[in-house]
Amino acid sequence: MNITDKNKEQALLVGQSRENLAELINLAKTAGVEVAKLMYFKSEKINPAFYIGSGKLAEIKQEVDLANLDPVIFDNELTPAQHRNLEEKLEVKVLDRSQVILDIFAIHAHTKESKLQVELAQLEYLLPRLTGHGTKLSRLGGGIGTRGPGETKLETDRRRIKTRISRLKKEIKEVKRNRQLQRKNRKDPLITLVGYTNAGKSTLINLLTAADTLVADQLFATLDSTVRQLLLPIGFQVIISDTIGFIDRFPPQLIASFAATLEEIKQADLLVHVVDSSHPDLDKQIKVVNQVLYQLNVLNKDIILLFNKIDNISAEQITELQINYPGSSIISAQTGQGREQLIEQISALILKNMKVINLKIPYDKANLINTIHQTGEVYHEEYLNNHILIRGRIARIIADKLKKYQYNQQG
Ligand code: GTP
Repeated sequence: MNITDKNKEQALLVGQSRENLAELINLAKTAGVEVAKLMYFKSEKINPAFYIGSGKLAEIKQEVDLANLDPVIFDNELTPAQHRNLEEKLEVKVLDRSQVILDIFAIHAHTKESKLQVELAQLEYLLPRLTGHGTKLSRLGGGIGTRGPGETKLETDRRRIKTRISRLKKEIKEVKRNRQLQRKNRKDPLITLVGYTNAGKSTLINLLTAADTLVADQLFATLDSTVRQLLLPIGFQVIISDTIGFIDRFPPQLIASFAATLEEIKQADLLVHVVDSSHPDLDKQIKVVNQVLYQLNVLNKDIILLFNKIDNISAEQITELQINYPGSSIISAQTGQGREQLIEQISALILKNMKVINLKIPYDKANLINTIHQTGEVYHEEYLNNHILIRGRIARIIADKLKKYQYNQQG
């Protein structure tokens, strides 16, 4: 039985094949529209003015009029000109893949920081697509593609958009500065979870740290990074954070505006790349994530490739994954299977990044002794007249910060 929700916008999706459209269907549903019809076109016939050929355009127009469909969503990026031309011909709202992703981000942005970042990305996307004073898009009314973060409708006046963009950039800069300050004070090693959207990062952070992060079977449910502490059995405290999920053809405007959030990846001492092992497109998803990691210039970091959701796949499939991806690990963030092994693996990598220290700490900096005890291993501690001598092993990042107290034992 096919029950359609007539209160929702009835969308027609256009792509190259049913398989290619699978992800856009999920995205459109997450953005709250009803997927009423799918149509396909041949890629070799790409037309610079309309993206699709005139025959296909006529077919789509007929469908739109017959079944009263609105909007029409394309599974690719449309140029500003294609966008305008298609809207003129079809006389309904036309969206591309990026706009749907931006719309989902707008719905899911809850904190001040993510709202600023999403709004900036949306306006950067809109600006080149507005003609004149922005009359084109304002006639579109509400619904998907016009939502701003926090229930407000997106600004569509060119001049006001420009002013707003510079305001947003300033505010984001301020947020970034605050983050840098927080980061400077960070003592413990940072482990950041990365992965394709819906891979299970939030579930995993909950499993590892008993945190209460929103877990939802939705694309891009969490836009704000969760940061939690975890005490490893080897006695070291680490910080675990997650980041926004990635997706194929991630809108570049989002990568740019989420730079402050993505910084969490650049600063990490260890990355855990979480993969949904039960997804039919997992190889492609791994590539997409690696592509973003490459763009962020972090592929030289320690990375654990972690296949999640193994409760959803067979023992044969697990073996195959381990053969195809040597050195990878497996887990079910939902059942907890594999948790201990992951923690052991994390511990081993953290220990690998430990450094032996010989420090002479003045008494007015005695609080550092506490930090060293909490985050490392102390072999020897001696309270002398003018300073405290301490020998031990701590995380490299902390050792680097304490460099000026280092002394040469022989000297
Ligand atoms: P984004 O916020 O989109 O980046 O998602 P995420 O990577 O944080 O994924 P999340 O933890 O929200 O999980 C996505 C869905 O997968 C939820 O429905 C989870 O319940 C489910 N899930 C997570 N881990 C497992 C697992 O080990 N097994 C199974 N069967 N489902 C899981």
